[in-house]
Amino acid sequence: MKSILGIGNALTDILAVLPDDTLLNTFHLPKGSMQHVDAETGDSIWTALKPLGVKYVAGGSAANTISCTAIFGMPSSFIGKIGNDELGLLFKSDQEQYGVQTHLLTSEHSSGRSMVFVSGGNAERTFAVYLGAALDLVPDDLDPAWFEGFDYFHIEGYLVQNQDLVRRAVELAHAAGCTISLDLASYNVVESNLAFLHDIVGKYVDIVFANESESRAFTGRKDPREALDVLASLCRTAIVKVGKDGSWVKSGDEVYCIAPWPADPVDATGAGDTYAAGFLYADSLGLPLKMCGEIGSIIAAKVVEVIGTKIDIPRWRAAKQEIRELIAAYEA
Ligand SMILES: Nc1ncnc2c1ncn2[C@@H]1O[C@H](COP(=O)(O)OP(=O)(O)OP(=O)(O)O)[C@@H](O)[C@H]1O
Ligand SMILES: [Mg+2]
Repeated sequence: MKSILGIGNALTDILAVLPDDTLLNTFHLPKGSMQHVDAETGDSIWTALKPLGVKYVAGGSAANTISCTAIFGMPSSFIGKIGNDELGLLFKSDQEQYGVQTHLLTSEHSSGRSMVFVSGGNAERTFAVYLGAALDLVPDDLDPAWFEGFDYFHIEGYLVQNQDLVRRAVELAHAAGCTISLDLASYNVVESNLAFLHDIVGKYVDIVFANESESRAFTGRKDPREALDVLASLCRTAIVKVGKDGSWVKSGDEVYCIAPWPADPVDATGAGDTYAAGFLYADSLGLPLKMCGEIGSIIAAKVVEVIGTKIDIPRWRAAKQEIRELIAAYEA
């Protein structure tokens, strides 16, 4: 099986279900938004959430993708930075439990965390993110030896807050002969780093993942189908995900519209990260483009059926069975 190395913000999700909007108002967090907070605010939010009963789950976009590729059976490794604290240990043991080989450096700042407020009936989510130690990952931290022997290298767009780090990472991955994939992460990340991302995608990236708003931001507001053409003109394979409407995939002259796999959705968090894992796993098996999109959709459909980013064991079993059947039908 081919191997994959990922790099991203090492974050732990701290989830709390809110009885009402009092805490959102106290911390001036508009419902549904994602805000970065400093250490002090981060600590007071965490303290205020604890009495509600909180759940701790390792998260972070690329980290989620890499845990999934490990469950698919790909030798998987992750580079990140944590604090010398309990959340850092939790993040590390979560990754190791899935068989991920970790390169987790430590910083004197506390571990990064994403405090997730889940509001009532429709499970709407509001995020307050303290990046902490994750922000301290610097180009000199990257050891070229970590990249050697890996077939794939996956990077999350959230890291472009440190452009030198991203450039150094893709240079090392390129020198090691990896197939490089990038998830554009968020439309505001794309908007604020447009020239840099165009340069990196054109020069280094083989496979680019964008959702609809990221693809619009990348291409000056083009519709998903047109944005797909622009992205695919820059690299080997482009994917534009359109949520419950599925995804578009393109490589050279080959284009497919991939229907979503049937699901009973409760919470779409993590859909993009798991789609990427399924797509990369299928690509690593040398499967055709359309099947890569379909396998991404199968696994994404499982994560939208659960609250949070972790697929339970019965759903993993079902996904693996559905994927085996798809591959068997292709080979027959
Ligand atoms: N309601 C749904 N039912 C079935 N599949 C879904 C649903 N919502 C999303 N998906 C699948 O998940 C994929 C990725 O979703 P989406 O377009 O939301 O990506 P994203 O915005 O990158 O996600 P994320 O918020 O995790 O970053 C879709 O292409 C689709 O295959
Ligand atoms: Mg995404």
